[in-house]
Amino acid sequence: MILVTGGAGFIGSNFVLNWLSEIKEPIVNVDKLTYAGNLSNLALVEKVNHYFIRGDICDKELLLAILKKYQPRAIIHFAAESHVDRSIHGPSEFIKTNIEGTFNLLEISRNYWTNLTGEGKKNFRFLHVSTDEVFGSLSYSDSPFTEKSPYLPNSPYSASKASSDHLVRAWFHTYGLPILIGNCSNNYGPFQFPEKLIPLMILNALSGKKLPIYGDGKQIRDWLYVIDHCNALQKILFEGIPGETYNIGGQNEKTNLSVVIKICDLLDKLSPGKNSYKDQIIFIKDRPGHDIRYAINSKKIVDKLNWVPKENFDTGIEKTVNWYLQNKQWINKIISGDYLKWMDKNYESDSIGGF
Ligand code: NAD
Ligand code: TYD
Repeated sequence: MILVTGGAGFIGSNFVLNWLSEIKEPIVNVDKLTYAGNLSNLALVEKVNHYFIRGDICDKELLLAILKKYQPRAIIHFAAESHVDRSIHGPSEFIKTNIEGTFNLLEISRNYWTNLTGEGKKNFRFLHVSTDEVFGSLSYSDSPFTEKSPYLPNSPYSASKASSDHLVRAWFHTYGLPILIGNCSNNYGPFQFPEKLIPLMILNALSGKKLPIYGDGKQIRDWLYVIDHCNALQKILFEGIPGETYNIGGQNEKTNLSVVIKICDLLDKLSPGKNSYKDQIIFIKDRPGHDIRYAINSKKIVDKLNWVPKENFDTGIEKTVNWYLQNKQWINKIISGDYLKWMDKNYESDSIGGF
């Protein structure tokens, strides 16, 4: 049995589905079901091996009870507030979940691990799922981030994730808790909440809305298909060395504008309208403190753990666009209350019609 936190979110639910179909070891999944958590992501899960508990990682009593009852051999910690724009509008939830929640989980895990014995104690792992954004922003000519890059987070989101990484690392050095950290680049794929660039653009395009590009659209992200990230996490869990961190990236550096143009080209082919979807692109006010470029050097995980991504951006984005085209029911469930309020709030000052 493993314990997953945040397993109803985008990456967590992909991890759960992938794990249960490949590894078949039971999972206990703790998720608060915030606006970003969605049980319909898990509709296809093998119920017999999946125990879902709605709960907050800040709730000590609940976590204690879960560890006592399910006795997991490992914890994979996805739960977080994850959207940079939301962290700009309201950072406090990010501090609560990403920092206090991680601290809480570490303390409960330490207590649990300390009381384990023999092989159970030796083999226990705490895998913390983190981001390349903790390293800050690269210039266009800088070398990609390595595991040795300094931490220079710029947004409330990345600062809260950086804090959580530091706590996780310290629990290894001070208490010996066998932790591992994965710092991954931008993910995309099925079940991503449509506030993030790729699903937002697909959905806006299909519903005839504007495609709002922040600033000049020349910022670069290193895109990784979500299942490749999930496979990397499996490798780290099974073969990673406790105390170590692993950078995970797709070597798919793209400007935001080129990503949106690619999505439009695919939609023009797969779901053509009267005009090209590219006509819907507009440039709006830039995000405050917008990081220019993220790029990952994955040499360590490739060399040491023999991980390689299966998808390149062309194959991964086509799969993703097709998934959104084929899963209108999932989309319709998401596009309601909180989502509409968020779209109004984030994009209102740009007075772009249709939101
Ligand atoms: P997400 O926002 O889609 O999902 C987060 C999940 O955590 C949701 O199901 C939510 O309900 C749950 N959650 C939030 N607060 C909680 C709390 N207090 N207690 C329990 N559950 C809570 O995020 P995601 O994109 O799936 O990201 C998962 C993890 O991966 C995060 O830690 C994120 O920092 C990291 N990450 C994301 C990316 C990316 O591109 N999305 C890249 C690298 C790393
Ligand atoms: P996002 O998906 O929010 O991920 P992150 O900020 O964590 O990298 O955004 C990816 C890039 O796309 C980022 O540079 C901001 C940009 N972006 C837009 O240009 N327009 C949008 O409406 C959104 C949501 C993002």
